Amino acid sequence: MIATGHILRLIEDKREKQHISLQTISDCLGMDISRLNDIESGKYSITNEQLSKLIDVCNTDKKLDISGFDTIKKTGWDNPISLESRRYIGSKAKLVGWIMNIINSETRDVHSFFDVFAGTGVVTKVALDYFDSVVTNDFLYSNNVIYKAFFGKGSIDKTKIANILDKYNAIDEKSLKDNYFSINFGGKYFQYDLAKKVGYIREDIENKKPYLSKKEYCTLIATLIYNIDRFANTVGHFDAYIKKTIEYKPLRLRMIEAKSYDNVDIFQEDANALAKNIKTDVAYIDPPYNSRQYSRFYHIYETLTKWDKPPLYGVALKPEAENMSKYCTTRAAAAFEDLIKNLNARYIAVSYNNTYHSKSSSSQNKITLEQLKHILDKYGKTHIYECSHKFFNTGKTDFNDHKELLFITNVR
Ligand SMILES: C[S@@+](CC[C@H](N)C(=O)[O-])C[C@H]1O[C@@H](n2cnc3c(N)ncnc32)[C@H](O)[C@@H]1O
Repeated sequence: MIATGHILRLIEDKREKQHISLQTISDCLGMDISRLNDIESGKYSITNEQLSKLIDVCNTDKKLDISGFDTIKKTGWDNPISLESRRYIGSKAKLVGWIMNIINSETRDVHSFFDVFAGTGVVTKVALDYFDSVVTNDFLYSNNVIYKAFFGKGSIDKTKIANILDKYNAIDEKSLKDNYFSINFGGKYFQYDLAKKVGYIREDIENKKPYLSKKEYCTLIATLIYNIDRFANTVGHFDAYIKKTIEYKPLRLRMIEAKSYDNVDIFQEDANALAKNIKTDVAYIDPPYNSRQYSRFYHIYETLTKWDKPPLYGVALKPEAENMSKYCTTRAAAAFEDLIKNLNARYIAVSYNNTYHSKSSSSQNKITLEQLKHILDKYGKTHIYECSHKFFNTGKTDFNDHKELLFITNVR
């Protein structure tokens, strides 16, 4: 549904200026006049389909100047990019249904949920429909901006943001000057002209910051990240780029699915520190399990979000290390135990897997299955569920040893 607010004020304004009757609009939308009155007064919302129909019908009979709507449609608001569409190691996008079903069947009288290591936020997104209140957390800057854009409280002036995106889309990237992003990442992680456009847009968002609400600012950055993700010259993370010539493809930004929830609290803290201050019925724990640091894998999105233009080092062009997780070190088991001890939750759900495959020993899990079971057993009664790899990997045989486990501990 499209929120009523400014779109409908625009309809009313154009309708009155151009002496178009409510009856004409009613014919366009196939909706009766009393309901239209309610829509104009903000009591009801207009659906994406109705908005498209209005634009199409009015475009053909030229009775209504709908350039404002056209821009909204052109920038993809009726078909926004979903949260799940991002490439992210360890995303639970394909498993979240399985996880939530088990949590539902194993818990009683639960109202609040804590996604301690939220990553993409796909588990948070589903939890928002199941629980009265949700706390979500991840220490990466880019993930935090993404949560604020997709779930955070606040409103967006659609016409304003659609116009900004439309202007970005009209820019010919080849005509742009070099900038921080193209100098460092052009021809490596991204095609050179595309990198110029990404750097230009990010700088422009920063310049516009004083005129944007917090929600609008985060939405523009998240929209940029989501749109460039599929252009990245990588295997899905930024530990290295592929050494090949990158084909030019134009960048046209499409809006992300930005919603506003009243029942979410968003944090960007170290999980173990935050755990001491949060009380929920269910805590869901999905930490990294090997030495691969997420802040290093997704350093480009961290740099793009912070936009402090840091010096970069090495072939992979990473900034100084920040947000290095204890869970990726030999201290992982101790960190895990400290977290479980400090969590204030009646139920603890823990995902465990060995999804990241590499020949190097550095990719071995830092917490063994036995350590995990042993720690959870100290704090309550635990049930363990195993998901067949076929369930989430469409039956590919090269993941034969891939196990996805879910532990549910009923805390004593
Ligand atoms: C396996 S991923 C979570 C995936 C997530 N469940 C999903 O579906 O997208 C682990 C996440 O934990 C975050 N992380 C690692 N150590 C952390 C810490 N000490 N505090 C907060 N977040 C941390 C990483 O940035 C990463 O996004």
